[in-house]
Amino acid sequence: MSRGTLIDLLYLVAALTFVLALKGLGSPKRARHGNMVAAAGMLLAIVATFFNRVDGHPLHHVLLIVLGMAVGLVVAVPTARFVQMTAMPQLVAIFNGVGGGAACLVSLTEFIHIKSTKPATYVVLEVLLGVLIGTVSFSGSAIAFAKLQELMTGRPVTYAGQQFINALIGAAALAVIVMALVTSSTALLWVLLAVAFVLGIAFVLPIGGADVPVLISLLNSFTGLAVAASGFTLGSNLLIVAGTLVGASGTLLTMLMSKAMGRSLPNILFSAFGSVVTAGPGSGAEQRSVRSGTPEDVAVMLGFASRVVFIPGYGLAVAQAQNVLRELAENLEKKGVEVFYAIHPVAGRMPGHMNVLLAEANVPYDDLIEMDEANSELTTADVAIVVGANDTVNPAANDDPGSPIYGMPIIHADAAENVIFMKRSMRPGFAGIDNELLYNPKTTLVFGDAKDTLTKIVAAVKAS
Ligand code: TAP
Repeated sequence: MSRGTLIDLLYLVAALTFVLALKGLGSPKRARHGNMVAAAGMLLAIVATFFNRVDGHPLHHVLLIVLGMAVGLVVAVPTARFVQMTAMPQLVAIFNGVGGGAACLVSLTEFIHIKSTKPATYVVLEVLLGVLIGTVSFSGSAIAFAKLQELMTGRPVTYAGQQFINALIGAAALAVIVMALVTSSTALLWVLLAVAFVLGIAFVLPIGGADVPVLISLLNSFTGLAVAASGFTLGSNLLIVAGTLVGASGTLLTMLMSKAMGRSLPNILFSAFGSVVTAGPGSGAEQRSVRSGTPEDVAVMLGFASRVVFIPGYGLAVAQAQNVLRELAENLEKKGVEVFYAIHPVAGRMPGHMNVLLAEANVPYDDLIEMDEANSELTTADVAIVVGANDTVNPAANDDPGSPIYGMPIIHADAAENVIFMKRSMRPGFAGIDNELLYNPKTTLVFGDAKDTLTKIVAAVKAS
């Protein structure tokens, strides 16, 4: 077998591991394993590349490549290991931006490389699309990172005529591509780079922090397409397959997230959702009466319960209360109470946020029940405990056609006999809207940090 065939075979095996990894990532039980399979495939592909020959020539600049990889390892490994769960979306944003930037750099160097060889129009088009998409993904991800990291406002940044101006920038990018195709001018390549950079920023500015995770998923699919484009340019089947997988899975994830939020993708991208807060301190919302209770009251209520449902949300991640929540569940189970967790697909700030958080706290996977099944189980629950969730249990999504979250499927906490609502204040959730469930006669609010509250409840349950 020739060296070329062997390397192509190794690339095929690597591509297969990526497909298998995606399958594994579809379930919390197999996700960790799926990740390892993908990492092994990636390692195989990298090692094979070092032995590859292009037109009979071995890899150039091996030392420089190894040095680049070493720098990447030194930066990425500690960053990924020590990132807080709440900061995961911005980490994904920055990693994605770097991927888009790398794909753009490959396309840029290839353009300069192939220019003198009078390449076919489609080859130049691939290169130019790689530059456009990779750069949009790079600058867009940088703004998404800045929004999530609170380096700038998380609210939509809007101004008069914004959509028209954005459309103009997009049209300018396409015009530059057409001119570059006709003239093969390197100067136009730099113009395209600049226009694409501005387009990425302009595209992301009007998107509110609440919608940024969906945007990151979309930008991730852009990066995949840019990588696939550079795969065509370099004649690398592996890059084409890997890029297409990222592009397709990113698109699917974007669509699933939009569906779970009950909104269309154009609405998420262009409606500047979240620019107006309709509830919260000062809005008058806090003037209506609510029933509040203490952790000891909750322990008494739990003493009479036989079926308890936990509904976790973003506040659980903020409070880092996942371990103490599991401890409460275990204590209840010891007393013969049946316990499960109702998981909304967009609870938290990223897909699978709650699954990852609870898996980290060793909550058994079988206790995590997805929204639809959980909703049918909730009618037989004695107590639903909402821990740092808000929008995902807000009945306005069902009842109020004027609400910005109308149409979003929710977890019907109010179907349980009693509702315990843990939060620190009357402030709204991510969508910035008031929640009628807080005023429901079934609801008891326990104000405070979720970790503190849960710790006190555990102590009271143990003492009872
Ligand atoms: P949210 O609606 O954001 O509500 C979180 C709640 O947690 C708030 O009411 C907050 O109230 C409370 N909280 C914060 N820190 C807390 C702490 N330390 N202790 C106790 N409570 C605390 O959360 P959700 O129900 O998970 O909904 C997620 C939202 O994000 C949805 O609107 C969804 O559409 C959006 N979103 C999600 C995703 C994905 S993929 N997950 C993507 C894009 C958008 P206080 O401030 O009063 O404590």
